[in-house]
Amino acid sequence: MNNLLIRNARIASMQRGSKSPFGLLEDTDIRVADGIIQEIGSDLRAKPNDTVLEANGHWCLPGFVDCHTHLVYGGDRSEEFRQRLDGVSYEEISRQGGGIKSTVRATRSTSAKALTIQTLRRARRLLEEGVTTLEIKSGYGLDEDTELKMLEVADVVADTLDISVIKTFLGAHSMPPDAGMNADEYIDFVCQVMIPKVAKEKRADAVDVFCETVGFSLEQTRRVFEAARDAGLPVKGHVEQLSDSKGAVLACEFNALSVEHIEYLQESDVATLATAGTVAVLLPGAYYYLKETQKPPVKALREAGVDMAVATDMNPGTSPIASLLTCANMASLFFGLTVEEALKGITVNGARALGLEDRGEIAPGKRADLTLWDMPSPASLIYELNGYRPHTVIAGGKHVA
Ligand code: NIG
Ligand code: FE
Repeated sequence: MNNLLIRNARIASMQRGSKSPFGLLEDTDIRVADGIIQEIGSDLRAKPNDTVLEANGHWCLPGFVDCHTHLVYGGDRSEEFRQRLDGVSYEEISRQGGGIKSTVRATRSTSAKALTIQTLRRARRLLEEGVTTLEIKSGYGLDEDTELKMLEVADVVADTLDISVIKTFLGAHSMPPDAGMNADEYIDFVCQVMIPKVAKEKRADAVDVFCETVGFSLEQTRRVFEAARDAGLPVKGHVEQLSDSKGAVLACEFNALSVEHIEYLQESDVATLATAGTVAVLLPGAYYYLKETQKPPVKALREAGVDMAVATDMNPGTSPIASLLTCANMASLFFGLTVEEALKGITVNGARALGLEDRGEIAPGKRADLTLWDMPSPASLIYELNGYRPHTVIAGGKHVA
């Protein structure tokens, strides 16, 4: 069913290590079988049962990867947005019991069915822009039932839209409201009950922690990472978002897939990421909504050869932005990524941040996650805000949008 021949495309392969801009290929045709790119060449002939897709010289890019989202949540935080416009800080709102805790209350009281409908709306926005792989974190339940409900909703989104959803368990996102226990006791629950269960039942692919003054301490973060390692799950971290807590260095000790936000990462700690091969995930949407002024150390990351990814961090508090291309644009304008770095950030490096080597590039053997665009150049996607949509989106060889 998934045998496809795309003919006459301009291929921006985004291949790692390519010398040409955007990994531009001279060849124009892509053969797909069983959801995998089999062959790239010129004048490829259709085989019996191949569906032929005439690209008419349009650009073909890899499907995008949004490697950090909190897409499943109930409620809305527009009241908090109003307070923030009045000058109340994110930390202050969090201390007053708002912020993440208010979304936790709303997510707990929203049924799985309603959450699915709300999440599908957001996921469709991303898919319309060409996102074929999406990470979704739990972390707005903070009790067993709701955390598992969120991860189940993530699965339904993947099945409904025929895209890939990678799930991350973020039980250590915040202290649960009305927990009746202290933070160390809650971390005991996360480490002794939740992580082993999530791993055993294969409900998530990785474990994340919010290591921050308004989140969990370095020592508590270490315990979560140890539990993940014991359970065989890779780790990643919300680190150095509001202060330098050394969460990134700790994450690298556990060979984290990625460290995320990192506005307050010290330049002197960048080498640790390079040595660990950990991806730096930049989240300019949260930087923008929080009116942050501290920028991640992009120049040092670039010079150290650390792979940089860009994601939406789509969430109701700090980054209500259902547009990966907007975030890629912001990564260039706010943080100084080149156009090519921004596009790598939402393709090949986004995939690496999820531990996925099978996508993010157009090359034989990779998943056939492909998008077709009628635009002047791949740079148009970063240059022009809300200017282009792919007219065809293929995920795993299947036409999904
Ligand atoms: O990535 N930093 C912690 N978590 C989210 C915010 C979640 C929220 O405010 O609801 C983030 O910014
Ligand atoms: Fe986040």
